[in-house]
Amino acid sequence: MAKKGGIGKSLLVSYFILLLAFIIVTGFTFNILSNRYLINEAKKQMLEEGKAIANKLEGWTLTEIGIRDRLMARRELRLATSNLEAKIIVINSERKVLFANIQAGDLSKYQNIINGGRRDRDYVISRVPINSDTGKAVGQVILVTKTQDIKALNWLIGRVQLFSLLIAGIIAIIMAFAFENKITSPIKKLTGYMQGFNIIKSKALEIKTGDEIEELAETFNELTNKLREYDEKQMRFLQNTSHELKTPLMSIQGYAEAIKEGIVEGDEITKSLDIIIEESKRLKKTVDEVIYLTRLESTENSSNRKAIDLGDLVHQSVEKVRAIAKEGNISIYISGQYPVANINGDEILRAIVNILGNSLRFANSRIDIEGSLQKGFVEITLRDDGPGFKEGEEKIVFERFYKGEKGGTGIGLAIVKAIIEGHGGSAKAKNVLPHGACFIIQLPIRNDK
Ligand SMILES: Nc1ncnc2c1ncn2[C@@H]1O[C@H](COP(=O)(O)OP(=O)(O)OP(=O)(O)O)[C@@H](O)[C@H]1O
Ligand SMILES: [Mg+2]
Repeated sequence: MAKKGGIGKSLLVSYFILLLAFIIVTGFTFNILSNRYLINEAKKQMLEEGKAIANKLEGWTLTEIGIRDRLMARRELRLATSNLEAKIIVINSERKVLFANIQAGDLSKYQNIINGGRRDRDYVISRVPINSDTGKAVGQVILVTKTQDIKALNWLIGRVQLFSLLIAGIIAIIMAFAFENKITSPIKKLTGYMQGFNIIKSKALEIKTGDEIEELAETFNELTNKLREYDEKQMRFLQNTSHELKTPLMSIQGYAEAIKEGIVEGDEITKSLDIIIEESKRLKKTVDEVIYLTRLESTENSSNRKAIDLGDLVHQSVEKVRAIAKEGNISIYISGQYPVANINGDEILRAIVNILGNSLRFANSRIDIEGSLQKGFVEITLRDDGPGFKEGEEKIVFERFYKGEKGGTGIGLAIVKAIIEGHGGSAKAKNVLPHGACFIIQLPIRNDK
């Protein structure tokens, strides 16, 4: 089930928040800056205009009524910031208004400015003195614009800016959706593939995005390959096991039927029953070993380990096979060094006994066990003077159900390998000169050697 509000949604949400924050911050900053710019620009232009007017009036008697006509003649009076209506007030040195393009009734609103008030929040003001021929200030040209007019102009500019930000925003949103799709669609593909995954039928997943998602898909493919290998191994194990069980079962069935149908009689019946009992035991042994091996391979049970003297353990193992050795006239020699190691005693004992059990079947007269301490591990070699392995056999003896001549179930060495590897060690087999098989077991130990 696809979850709502996945990566794509969080991505989009954070992206929108970012975009919105960007629009707000830029909008505000731009607005403040452009407002300031417009005011400065208006001031500058009004100053220019004021200077031009003052220049025109220089040398005139400021009381003269002709001022109006002189000024009106200058149509370039309009400010370059043509959206702004600047008011022009001409006063003499007594602050008496000589000219103003303001209706008489409104003039009172400008009284503070006429009186020389420097600051007024509602107006932007520029003043230029009018000098007489002698350079004496005889009056003043005052240009005034309402701040509100500038604000209106600013709002006009702001609208244009807002509009372009909106367009940019829309483009960004479209791109965000495309981007979101680019990220989430391969993830959806991956999820879909995983949900419908079938270990036999599913083919390798193909995602070619050239990024981490492709890497994830590749890792997933590697994982499925491992799964397939494991599955095949288990399948083979199951087939082999069934095969191994079938042989004794068929033999048991055959003898039981023969007895029932009276095909065997007298002494033969006891012999047949002995075979049935023998085969049943073999069957049980196989089942036990398969169960043991499966348990070894399927559980991580390092919890049962404790410090055990490997020397004692080797002696105990030899003790277990003493009777068989005696029967076969085979001597077992123990030499070398054995440390204390953190191991599962039952398991390691079983591994050594399994190897010894094989060697006792093949040895002529002796088996040698030797321990040696190496840096970080202990190596135990078990050597017999039998015929050794056939060519190439030493590489496959640890495989489950592999058995050669004089073989049993073929699972003993697979158990050895599982136990030793479960302890983080390794088990190998090789031939020794002049003849004989040799098993080398390495177990990790903590030492400073
Ligand atoms: N010391 C040895 N010398 C020669 N061949 C050996 C020796 N040990 C093992 N092998 C070969 O390796 C095979 C596999 O051994 P493994 O112990 O796994 O199975 P097995 O002894 O046949 O049956 P079991 O499950 O009863 O132990 C043997 O059948 C034998 O052919
Ligand atoms: Mg064996």
